[in-house]
Amino acid sequence: MKEKLKKIIIEAGTILKKGYYSEKEVDFKAKKDLVTKYDVAVENFLKERFTEEFKEFNIIAEESNNENIEFNDSIIIDPIDGTTNFVNQVPHTAISVGVYKNKKSYIAIVYNPILDELYEAERGKGSFLNGKKIEVSKEDDFQKALISTGFPYTSGTNKEDLDDVIKKINIILPKCQDIRRLGSAALDLCYVARGTYEAYYEMNLKAWDVSAGILILTEAGGMVSNIFEKEYDLFNDKYIVATNTKLHKQLINLLQK
Ligand code: IPD
Ligand code: CA
Ligand code: CA
Ligand code: CA
Repeated sequence: MKEKLKKIIIEAGTILKKGYYSEKEVDFKAKKDLVTKYDVAVENFLKERFTEEFKEFNIIAEESNNENIEFNDSIIIDPIDGTTNFVNQVPHTAISVGVYKNKKSYIAIVYNPILDELYEAERGKGSFLNGKKIEVSKEDDFQKALISTGFPYTSGTNKEDLDDVIKKINIILPKCQDIRRLGSAALDLCYVARGTYEAYYEMNLKAWDVSAGILILTEAGGMVSNIFEKEYDLFNDKYIVATNTKLHKQLINLLQK
């Protein structure tokens, strides 16, 4: 299944790439939440091809109406993760596809066609970037950790969320090397998987933001949980905490303050 998926996703990457270099109109789903016709075009292409090839799976996708769709055996799609980057030609944007069987992550692909970087994982078989095995960083000194985060779209309208973002940065920034906000949750998880970042956390994400990145990270030796150190629930948890494993407890302790 993985090879077929990959072929289709690489094809969809040409739509993303064409859009990236084109003039585009932007619609607003909310104050900070952008969407373009390319998000929809990539999604429609993937949905059509996946429905043909993988009939036994339901499809959950960001720009679609996902009401009453069973998650158990599903393919969860983010057609363009990092739409703000995509719109502004920041080359940090990707197609993210996670395949779930019995609610368990089974195959994951994250593809950035602008940088031509394809991350892939299958349960129990490790993680790969452009065919080369990747592993998390071995750093165990929190002070040396490069940590990534994101700012939820709700921080534009919800004062409580904005305050929470700032509070966490206030606590974590003095204790680590530095913090990044590159604007793609899927790639943030892949960057922890490849050892670029030691850790990543964010709040208010949707299942499609992380449905693939979680497996890519855990298969590379990383750890993912909610803020209470329990298994991250794609549909219900507020915070995702993702690390190289060694720094997990320390990041959890800081986020709980
Ligand atoms: C967003 C990105 C971003 C994160 C936002 C997500 P989108 O996804 O992953 O990094 O901070 O919370 O919604 O809208 O570009 O697919
Ligand atoms: Ca979006
Ligand atoms: Ca997303
Ligand atoms: Ca998206």
